Amino acid sequence: MDPRDAIAQKRDGKRLTAAEWQAFIRAYAAGEVTDYQMSAFLMACFLRGLDREETAALTQAMLDSGRRLDLAHLGRPRIDKHSTGGVGDKVSLVLAPLVSSLGVAVPMMSGRGLGHTGGTLDKLEAIPGFRTRLSLREATAELEAIGCTLIGQTDEIAPADRKMYALRDATATVEAIPLIAASIMSKKLAEGLTGLVLDVKRGPGAFLRDLDAQLELAQTMVSLGADHECPVVALLTAMDRPLGRACGNALETEEAIQALRGDGPPDLMEVTYALGVEMLRLAGITADAGDARRRLEGAVASGAAAGQFQRIIEAQGGNPAVVDDPALLPQAAECEFYTAPRAGVVAAVRPRPIGYGVTRLGGGRTKTADSVDPTVGFVITVKPGDRVEAGQPLASIYARDARGIADGRACLDEAVAIADAAEPPLPLVSHRVSRAGVEPYAAA
Ligand code: URA
Repeated sequence: MDPRDAIAQKRDGKRLTAAEWQAFIRAYAAGEVTDYQMSAFLMACFLRGLDREETAALTQAMLDSGRRLDLAHLGRPRIDKHSTGGVGDKVSLVLAPLVSSLGVAVPMMSGRGLGHTGGTLDKLEAIPGFRTRLSLREATAELEAIGCTLIGQTDEIAPADRKMYALRDATATVEAIPLIAASIMSKKLAEGLTGLVLDVKRGPGAFLRDLDAQLELAQTMVSLGADHECPVVALLTAMDRPLGRACGNALETEEAIQALRGDGPPDLMEVTYALGVEMLRLAGITADAGDARRRLEGAVASGAAAGQFQRIIEAQGGNPAVVDDPALLPQAAECEFYTAPRAGVVAAVRPRPIGYGVTRLGGGRTKTADSVDPTVGFVITVKPGDRVEAGQPLASIYARDARGIADGRACLDEAVAIADAAEPPLPLVSHRVSRAGVEPYAAA
């Protein structure tokens, strides 16, 4: 197939057959379609859209571009969780050890920070020695030994998505529902899962800004899972403010450790337990949401979840002592309070300026090749709706030097609004999406 034919068809709003999708993606993975041709194709897809069958065909073609994990021999349910990306979202670091401590295998493949959102791999790499680049053979051995692995997308998994994602980032074609759904699901389906839980973020800090688009994304991924006999449940969770208090790699890892030790901030625990309940139900550990929640709380209270995190860290070359002593995590050179400029009510803690602020301090990337400073970021101790006095500390800024502290202050000036009154924030978990459709979320 001449690549120009596929580009012209999408440019003109026509559809490609499943065989044409396979041929085009295979040719791209083999280097026969150039990056500039794929860029034009992606923009045509972005503007013209893909129908349901085309989205399924793209997912299949990206999945077929690489290998799949065969984990049936583990003899237990294999469940992963994926988030569409947020600020302060360290849920994966808590959830993977927690759920795997309850007999579920968790082969978790995560990403790096992107745009204003943080990435699980960057947070894990704040732990001295921790390796996220494992081969599939090493990851499988870890799953066999301890029931969990926390790794990045390897060259073997959906390589076509890996190349396309980098192009989408560079060509402003990320925010398209079929492209996001196919990208996420091709990687997840390669993990050989028996179930998947999705955390689809909503609110101004989410990639897709309006609720209808977020629900459509969730429904698309649920139905792609069903095509492959992988049951998927999605929860819509709030990203109109950062999740938890810490934003920045080592700071978030420290907060995740506190959560595993029973001392996590309430909003982080609520979202973690809501997703964990769905993972235990998909795993068949229990059908009852209340029972699932009690098991999760029990694993935190007994120390089983924290102990499992130590085993994972040790298996991946990191220093497990950080769980007992988080002061062993890298520490910022400078730390200063940010105080309230006036009395009033916190009307907003905007996630985007906070996320971009972490990058400005050196804790995120503007180019894929950038290295990140794990020590920098913010700990924000107020939430929308809190009443504050003038001069009261609202946050701590962690930076490399005095200039970083000044940059951090400017970011917080943009992010934190104090007013006479505040709109109510979004519910932490608002919708549950499954094969049965969209329902309002009812907590266990
Ligand atoms: N995460 C992914 O893996 N792919 C996307 O397209 C967006 C978020």
